[in-house]
Amino acid sequence: MADSPDKILNPEPKPDDRVDNTLRPKKLSDMIGQEQVKENLSILIEAARKRSEPLDHVLFYGPPGLGKTTLAHILTNEMGVNIKITSGPAIERAGDLASILTNLRAGDVLFIDEIHRLGRIVEEVLYPAMEDFALDIVIGKGPSARSIRLKLPHFTVVGATTRLALLTAPLRARFGAVYRLDFYSLDAMQAIVVRAVGMLDVPCEDGGIEAVAQRARGTPRVALRLLRRVRDYAQVRADGVVTRAVAQDALDLLQVDELGLDDVDRRVLKTIIEKYNGGPVGLKTIAASISEESDTLMDVVEPYLLQLGFLDRTQQGRVATKSAYEHLDLEYNEETQPKLL
Ligand SMILES: Nc1ncnc2c1ncn2[C@@H]1O[C@H](COP(=O)(O)OP(=O)(O)O)[C@@H](O)[C@H]1O
Ligand SMILES: [Mg+2]
Repeated sequence: MADSPDKILNPEPKPDDRVDNTLRPKKLSDMIGQEQVKENLSILIEAARKRSEPLDHVLFYGPPGLGKTTLAHILTNEMGVNIKITSGPAIERAGDLASILTNLRAGDVLFIDEIHRLGRIVEEVLYPAMEDFALDIVIGKGPSARSIRLKLPHFTVVGATTRLALLTAPLRARFGAVYRLDFYSLDAMQAIVVRAVGMLDVPCEDGGIEAVAQRARGTPRVALRLLRRVRDYAQVRADGVVTRAVAQDALDLLQVDELGLDDVDRRVLKTIIEKYNGGPVGLKTIAASISEESDTLMDVVEPYLLQLGFLDRTQQGRVATKSAYEHLDLEYNEETQPKLL
């Protein structure tokens, strides 16, 4: 059962997340959490403004739903420039990129989402564009072909990726600033839910806010989605007010536990523990055992389990930790655990 697209906790965007756009913080000061990234960005922005220069190329990486796209928009707003949005898979041919590039104006931001999925040939057009603001185009064919160099306006690439490791070294080297987004603290998550409750006008008690924040796996997009589901539940099964008990009942019904694990997360851990005696086992093998995409496991499931300390990544594969056994109420036996080299 490949149920990952419907996975309630999957932080990839879904159609009913459109409302999130209205909730997107517009300025750096509206953005909750990610203090270090924000501070670095504010320096980057102010320095560029003082010199009246466009921003340096910026790369954001980290698990989905943490605010990469939001930050790209914030950068654009703060600089008072235009944004052109595209993504790695959307730019199929070098010509597609060339036409995007030649339509940019000085200072514009070109936001490339999933930048790790750019094709090699397209990437090669991007290198000189980012480095020298130049576009090399070949005119003619065969022996009479010649290459001419077009000047491009001084623009800024903002890239986003969930997989820094898949970025080629030359592409990565062309970003002047690289920032990693981390899961949000519980305090930050609560503040994000409070903000959303206010903006969406959801009748919600403090306990309800806490319950949603706690089960949203440190991910704003998940928190906003859980809040919508909890609000539905409150309207249909209760008197419309999201109390702690209402939120807990709603989230239990969605099989989201107190730590924000859902059915897929638990199946991953149980597979490692029950089928492979705690591991080590390769991610592809786990994915095959539970009929999930290994990409989903890598982008969505694994980062959070690692963060909770339920999973270790070793040379030989993934290992379930003692805390994972405890969380699942399974017996942990030191003796029979695999000895790692
Ligand atoms: N720091 C934050 N404070 C408030 N809301 C946020 C924050 N970061 C993200 N969000 C919300 O979460 C949603 C997902 O963020 P997004 O930038 O699309 O994530 P990503 O691009 O990393 O997948 C956004 O629509 C936004 O409403
Ligand atoms: Mg995004």
